[in-house]
Amino acid sequence: MDNTQSRTTSADALVIFGVTGDLAHKMIFPALYAMAKRGTLTLPVIGVAGSSLSPAQLRKRATESIRQKGKIEDRAALDHLLSSLQYVGGDYNAPATFDALKQALGDARRPAHYLAIPPTLFETVINGLGAAGLADQARVIVEKPFGRDLASARELNRVALSVFAEDAIFRIDHYLGKEAIMNILYFRFANSFLEPIWNRDHVASVQITLAEDFGVKDRGTFYESAGCLRDVIQNHLFQIVALLAMEPPAYQGFGAVHSEKAKVFQAMRPLRPDDVVRGQYAGYRKEPGVAKNSDVETYCALRMFIDSWRWEGVPWYLRSGKCMATTAGEVLVELKPPPQRLFDDSAPVDGRANYLRFRLSPNSAVALAARVKRAGKEFVGDQRELYLLDGQIGEETPYERLLSDAMAGDGALFTREDAVEAAWAVVDPVLTDHTKAHRYEPGGWGPKQADALIAPHGCWHNPAPGKTAK
Ligand code: BG6
Repeated sequence: MDNTQSRTTSADALVIFGVTGDLAHKMIFPALYAMAKRGTLTLPVIGVAGSSLSPAQLRKRATESIRQKGKIEDRAALDHLLSSLQYVGGDYNAPATFDALKQALGDARRPAHYLAIPPTLFETVINGLGAAGLADQARVIVEKPFGRDLASARELNRVALSVFAEDAIFRIDHYLGKEAIMNILYFRFANSFLEPIWNRDHVASVQITLAEDFGVKDRGTFYESAGCLRDVIQNHLFQIVALLAMEPPAYQGFGAVHSEKAKVFQAMRPLRPDDVVRGQYAGYRKEPGVAKNSDVETYCALRMFIDSWRWEGVPWYLRSGKCMATTAGEVLVELKPPPQRLFDDSAPVDGRANYLRFRLSPNSAVALAARVKRAGKEFVGDQRELYLLDGQIGEETPYERLLSDAMAGDGALFTREDAVEAAWAVVDPVLTDHTKAHRYEPGGWGPKQADALIAPHGCWHNPAPGKTAK
């Protein structure tokens, strides 16, 4: 699918604001190294940050960041990356910082500015770029969270759009760069057997679980300002819902995909407090940076509806949590049982009718479950999974993919202004109006109140641990 709506010229420099920060350390440098190994890192990289750092210190930091992901097996690629690096230090509020950046950019005319900085600084940097004339022909890459509610997302869009055109703004949601998630779009629209059953007549419910068996680690301060709903549900899980629920794009081009996804968010019914169960793992309040009486959720389960012709009445259950029993992501699309019970066991005796299962992480799989007869006199059988895909590994990491796309000017896997705002509009009513977070023990599946949420339509499907999807 081509991308008719975005710029096709490649950037001629990459500027990383916040180059000494966590995101650059954990994600961006490893992605740049991967690009260098592949031979696709062909532009200068200019790091910008508040502290004064010598070029040698920056190179050291970059090397350490790459080493923490594993052994450096391609020394030439690392040297290439390090020799592409420059550094500009200075206050983001000072015009002199942007002048120095201009100098460092030299002849480059189409820089990509990556804002790997706290959201509170987005506006300052975007305005600084505009005032210094560094935004013309340039593009800006903005990390999630894009806003913290509807009002702030609108304001951020307003600021960004006052300096950059929409097709020059690349809003990152790294889930869109994952193979298993790209496959949802492909699988839905590259096959014809799905379409006749992909609607309210045949789908009983859809569940999406993103579980992590670890806590907030060193991100307590961030988590206190975010919580699970903002951190992963409004963005990562909603993006998955959009890909599952969207109508077929009207033409071959990602502009059409963006439009259909935005319509899904617009059709989502705004959440009400009783659609949401919030949880907090025991011990969270003792994490560094966390308030002793914190009510921030580290787990969130919700029920939602998409008020469209296709999905009217179909419940969508989403949940995510830290300190859960395992680390895995799965989608379960449960189909309605046969209308007549011809065999004793043909209704979902074990609580599950036929389903389609997308395993998203740690490995990817697509499985279709159907009943088959057991050999013997009796007409009884078992539900078996037919694997269409099992254990495919992504070629590129999401960050490598998204960074390369942004530099190439391909906006297919980024989020659009209207979609981001529509997604915030769905969660906005429950960001502050909600019941208290229930405590849950680490190592399980979250608070039991979430079972009551899904009870009218069955029970949660808990993804299996480990590498295999079975
Ligand atoms: C990030 C969240 O966006 O996504 C984290 O801030 C979460 O809290 C992470 O752990 C999950 O991403 P992945 O790729 O590890 O599933």
